[in-house]
Amino acid sequence: MFARLLSRITLQPAMDGQLAARFDGQAVGLGQFSAAASQRAQGLHGGLPLASFAADGAVDKEIDLLVRRLARRGLLEYVVGSAADGKHRGGVDQVVIEPQAPDYWPRMPELGAADLVVLSRFAYLRRRGNDVVLESPRAAALIRIGDPQIAAAIATLAIPQSIGTLLRADGVLSEALLAVLLDCSMLLRIDPAHTGDLRAAEGDDDLVMWDFHDLVFHTRSTEGRQANPLGGLYPYAGILPPLPAVRPRWPGPAIDLQPLSGPPAQPLAPVARLLRARQSTRSFDDRKPITLGELSRLLDGAARVQSQWQAPVDFGDGDIGPVVDYAPRPYPSGGAAYALELYLTVAHCEGLAPGFYHYDAAAHALMPIEARAAERDTLLAAAAFAMDAPATPQVLITIAARFGRSAWKYSAIAYALVLKEVGVLTQSLYLVATDMGLGGCAIGNSNIDLFAKMTGLDVHVEGPVGQFALGRAEPEGFDEDVAEP
Ligand SMILES: Cc1cc2nc3c(=O)[nH]c(=O)nc-3n(C[C@H](O)[C@H](O)[C@H](O)COP(=O)(O)O)c2cc1C
Repeated sequence: MFARLLSRITLQPAMDGQLAARFDGQAVGLGQFSAAASQRAQGLHGGLPLASFAADGAVDKEIDLLVRRLARRGLLEYVVGSAADGKHRGGVDQVVIEPQAPDYWPRMPELGAADLVVLSRFAYLRRRGNDVVLESPRAAALIRIGDPQIAAAIATLAIPQSIGTLLRADGVLSEALLAVLLDCSMLLRIDPAHTGDLRAAEGDDDLVMWDFHDLVFHTRSTEGRQANPLGGLYPYAGILPPLPAVRPRWPGPAIDLQPLSGPPAQPLAPVARLLRARQSTRSFDDRKPITLGELSRLLDGAARVQSQWQAPVDFGDGDIGPVVDYAPRPYPSGGAAYALELYLTVAHCEGLAPGFYHYDAAAHALMPIEARAAERDTLLAAAAFAMDAPATPQVLITIAARFGRSAWKYSAIAYALVLKEVGVLTQSLYLVATDMGLGGCAIGNSNIDLFAKMTGLDVHVEGPVGQFALGRAEPEGFDEDVAEP
C-alpha cells in the first residue's frame, strides 16, 4: 500500500524548513520538517510505501506525521499494489483508494483462509468520468478500479466465498485489496451457518431497515462521509441558463382568481399575515440574546409532544400486527412516525449555559449532552458560513431523524418522508419564531460525521437532516460599524 499525493498537489519546502502543499493557487501549511524529511517527502508524488515509514527513525517519524497531516486535509490517495507495477498495461493504476472522510486511514484487517466473505448490499460499481469506482454509503473511502479484470472479479463476490478460494482462484483479487474492502464494509465476513439472510448479516437492526437508495441519498446529500463538491457552487452557470423563477404558462384560457380573493381592503387572516411576515434572519443581536423563556415557548409552540397513545398495526383483512407508540407534535408527519428530534447548540442564550442539548419533546425539557467545545464551535461556524453571516446564530437547532421510525413502516419512501417532515417542521419553526418576534433561518447542509462524533450515535441510527439558526434579529437598519464603541 502506497500513500500518494493527489496529482494536483505539489509539496514546496521553504528556506526556513516549513513545508506547504500547493494546489489551485492555494497553499496549506504543513509545519516544520528537517531537510532530510522534506527531501524524502518528494517521494509522495509517486507514492511512498506506508510500511516504509512505520519504523522508529527520526525521519520516519517526521514522514509519518506529514502523511497523517496530508491525510486529514484530504490531499492523499492510496495505491494498492506497488506504485510501479500497480499499473496495468494502459498505464492506469489498478486500484486506488480515494478517502471520502477526513479521518480515513487505510487499515488492513487480518484475513483467515477459511473466512467467508460476500459483497455488502450497499456496495456499487459505477462509471465516474473515465473511471470505474466501487462505492458504498457505509465506507469512508471509495475504490477507483483501473483494471476491468478486477472489476469483474469484484462482481463475483456477490456469492459468499472463502478468502482461501478467492486467493487461489486466479490471483486477480489480492489479499491487500480484500483486506481494504473488508475494512471499508464493502465486503462482509459472514457466519457460514447464516448465509441465507445476508441483509441481517450486514449489521445491526437499524441498518437492516435502510433501503440501498435511501442510505446513498443520505450520505451523498450531506457533509462528512463524502469528498464531492457540495452546496451553492453554481456548477452549471457557465453551461446552461437558469430556469425562469415563474413557470411559463400552459396554453389556453386562464381562470382569473384575483376577483375571488376578497377585496384588498379586507384585513388578512392572522395565519396569512404570519406567512407574509415570515422571512429569513441571518444576523442576530448578541446584545440582547434570546432568553431561555423564549426558547421554551418556541419549542412548546413548534415541536412539543401533544399527546401519547398506542395502537396495534392493522395490516387489513383482520390481520393485526404489533402495538406501536405514537407521540404527535404540532406539525404533520407521514404515518404519524414523528421521526425528528431537536438538538440545540447554544452560543448565546440568557439563562442557559452555552452547550449542546437534546430537546425531550415529551417532557418539554432540555437534556445537556457532553460534546467538545471545539465540535460545537465547528458546528456553529459552519452555520454562519452557510448563511454568509458575520457571526454564529445564538442557538443552532439541528433537526435529526431516528430513521428507523419511518423505515419500519415505509419501503422505498422512508427517507423522502423524513425530508418532507423536515420541511413542515422548518416552516413551523419559522412561523412560531416570527410570531414571537424572533428571527431564524433554515440551513440546507448538515455534517453527519460531526453529529456522530458529538452524540456517539452511528450515522445510520440517528443523524442530522436539517438545521435552523435562531436568535433575536439585529434591529432594522442596524450598522455594526456605527454601533460598536
Ligand atoms: C430547505 C432550505 C434550506 C435553506 N438553506 C439555507 C442556507 O443554507 N443558507 C441560507 O442563508 N439560507 C438558507 N435558506 C433560506 C433561503 O435562502 C430563504 O428562505 C429564501 O432566500 C427566501 O427568503 P425568505 O426566507 O427571507 O423569505 C434555506 C431555506 C430552506 C427552505
